[in-house]
Amino acid sequence: MFTLGIIIASDKGYKGERIDKSGKIIKEIMENNYYITKKYTILPDEQEILEKEMIHMCDNLGLDLILTSGGTGFSKRDITPEATLNVVERLAPGISEAIRYKSLQITPRAMLSRAVSGIRKNTLIINLPGSPKAVSEILDFIIPSLSHGLEILK
Ligand code: MTE
Repeated sequence: MFTLGIIIASDKGYKGERIDKSGKIIKEIMENNYYITKKYTILPDEQEILEKEMIHMCDNLGLDLILTSGGTGFSKRDITPEATLNVVERLAPGISEAIRYKSLQITPRAMLSRAVSGIRKNTLIINLPGSPKAVSEILDFIIPSLSHGLEILK
């Protein structure tokens, strides 16, 4: 059993202009794999707000894993990787490499993902893309190795 925080980075989702499908998919897939969702929040694409929430989930809630979704592309407002890099103490680039490797087999546009992964204290943070389709394509692939990594981090 691992504890999970979900952060949806989406201006439209935050304003209620877009229904958050990705977060629901993340929650469902992860809970089917024995993760417990402790916090699930939709935030605007604002670097400081994203950083504060990640720090809270790591330092105060002590979660095992944070999955972010969205804000990893080339749009001017896409800032999730920068927020993540400001918060993590150690990088875990292999996870994002594996996600891009898997995703490139589905769409060449996966090369446009600027997503990063890293560790702050006892918490692993992984950026996922924003689309519900992308999220479901990726999670089943990473979960088995993820659980092994989180055991070591505990
Ligand atoms: N990964 C998978 N598995 N499937 C996808 O459809 N879309 C890509 C990429 N990764 C995609 C994917 C696209 S089009 C973009 S722009 C980037 O993720 C960033 O997405 P984001 O801006 O929603 O975070």
